[in-house]
Amino acid sequence: MSHPTDFNDRMLSLGLARVSERAALAAAELIGRGDERAADQAAVDAMRDELNRLDIDGVVVIGEGERDEAPMLYIGEKVGNGEGPAVDIALDPLEGTSLTAKDMPNALAVIAMGPRGSMLHAPDVYMDKLAIGPGYPTDVVSLEMSPSERVIALAAAGGCSPADITVCILERPRHDELVAEVRGTGAAVRLITDGDVAGAMHVADHDLTGIDMYMGQGGAPEGVLAAAALKCMGGQMWGRLVFRNDDERARARRAGITDLDRVYARDDMVTRGVIFAATGVTDGSFVKGVKRDVRFREAETLLMRSKTGSVRHVIYRNPVQRQ
Ligand code: FBP
Repeated sequence: MSHPTDFNDRMLSLGLARVSERAALAAAELIGRGDERAADQAAVDAMRDELNRLDIDGVVVIGEGERDEAPMLYIGEKVGNGEGPAVDIALDPLEGTSLTAKDMPNALAVIAMGPRGSMLHAPDVYMDKLAIGPGYPTDVVSLEMSPSERVIALAAAGGCSPADITVCILERPRHDELVAEVRGTGAAVRLITDGDVAGAMHVADHDLTGIDMYMGQGGAPEGVLAAAALKCMGGQMWGRLVFRNDDERARARRAGITDLDRVYARDDMVTRGVIFAATGVTDGSFVKGVKRDVRFREAETLLMRSKTGSVRHVIYRNPVQRQ
């Protein structure tokens, strides 16, 4: 029999869906209004409110920033009503603030939860990321390989040619050489303007997305969230923190990281069984965005548990309250 302070992932996952739903519904009211900050704030407020209703003794380990920057849902903030299991929370109430402000695809409200000590406390710096889908031998590609070596190795492992490989990359000037090198192998590149949690998740379902590999530098917090998603969906991932200055190195040390050059595999970033929920704000590859009707709001959530690999699509509909 389970005890109230056990990490009962079956029960907690349903509460987690409510949390990402609330954040997505709040952000959705700001879709296409050109105001990234307002959309983000709405999602943060809603997510925090809903999270604090859960029977958990939670700590935010991946959040909106450091405490002295005074955000809500800061790293180290205690969440939940304090009465349940001790859990770590990684969250991004609005992953894709610009995507939301511009009404572009793949904006998500995202949250992962695991037992205390189960997730890397990644500082808010960049991370060099590499992800591939399930079904490949362990370590067929690595961060130590050059981008072209990765494409060639993945194609060989998949029994196809580099021209059959599609790599997803964030469109940034810092990735110009990366994109050129990948294309130089004959592979295709799918550029995304933002949202690399969804970008990395794309590798987990090639039939749906057409993406074989994810590469490039994005936020380290988003890297841990992607690792949590891929632990549930299947797929390998690696990340190495990237520091641009001493302030960023100090952030990492404050987060308890001693080896600044370490390559983290997926299961180093997320060491134990986790649950993961992502609700669509705008339409995406895995979930539809919030539907705004005069009579109701409808949200779709991808809800997953790594212990079983179970994946649920939860559709939530709520009537619009009349004055
Ligand atoms: P926000 O929604 O917090 O703005 O993040 C969007 C995002 O595209 C992430 O998915 C990605 O990891 C990061 O920004 C990349 O950072 P940058 O825009 O500095 O290249």
